[in-house]
Amino acid sequence: MSRTPIIAGNWKMHNTIAEATALVAALKEAGNKNHAEIIIAPSYTALAVAAHTAKGSEIKIAAQDVHWEDKGAFTSAVSPVQAKDAGATHTIIGHSERRSVFGDTDEILNKKVAAALRHNLTVIFCVGETLEEREANKTLDVIAAQLENGLKGFTAEQLKGLVIAYEPVWAIGTGKTATPEQAQEVHAAIRAQLAKTYGDEFAQATRILYGGSVKDTNVDEIMAKPDVDGALVGGQSLIADKFARIINFN
Ligand code: 13P
Repeated sequence: MSRTPIIAGNWKMHNTIAEATALVAALKEAGNKNHAEIIIAPSYTALAVAAHTAKGSEIKIAAQDVHWEDKGAFTSAVSPVQAKDAGATHTIIGHSERRSVFGDTDEILNKKVAAALRHNLTVIFCVGETLEEREANKTLDVIAAQLENGLKGFTAEQLKGLVIAYEPVWAIGTGKTATPEQAQEVHAAIRAQLAKTYGDEFAQATRILYGGSVKDTNVDEIMAKPDVDGALVGGQSLIADKFARIINFN
């Protein structure tokens, strides 16, 4: 079964409105020889302008996170309704920085997934182990638990279209990339777990992205692995020509 690759850029807390406009405009000219799905996740402040600038292109827009309620007294939070209104079709949920810096627990993430699905936002659900967990040989157990707890209570039908991103915490923003073999091992384990929980058809259709120091210089070998269906890129998604090369991986 062939899965359409996804190349996604997570801009994190970067880019003004002017910078976001310029970057999306540049990416519209980048070409897309693999017919990948291209997704970028700007800050909330630039969501609408990024979506507006992307109009007429293949670039889709993701929120970096959403709150679990549709509206209410939640100072500083942004709801799935608002993200969608600004032009997002996707949302990242469970990024390791949300988990470690902002304290998003499995339980909170589960509620956020529910909120996103309620509004037909495609969820890019992130999982990944710390260095300590990897060295203690707990990688696969940690990821299995993150998937099980974060996605608890949903059927395959509800989760249709779900995207998983495997982002080892020790590889994020460190310049240290998982080897293609390390990525493949975890991706295969994730797919096996999806098959067991939701059935083989669901598992075969689900795109599993790798994230963590993906660069123009290492994307080709990572994308060559059979269970790696795309990349979630941080740092290099901020640089138009680097991200263009990643989109057009070999
Ligand atoms: P870097 O590509 O900067 O390591 O970030 C990865 C990431 O966290 C994407 O969500």
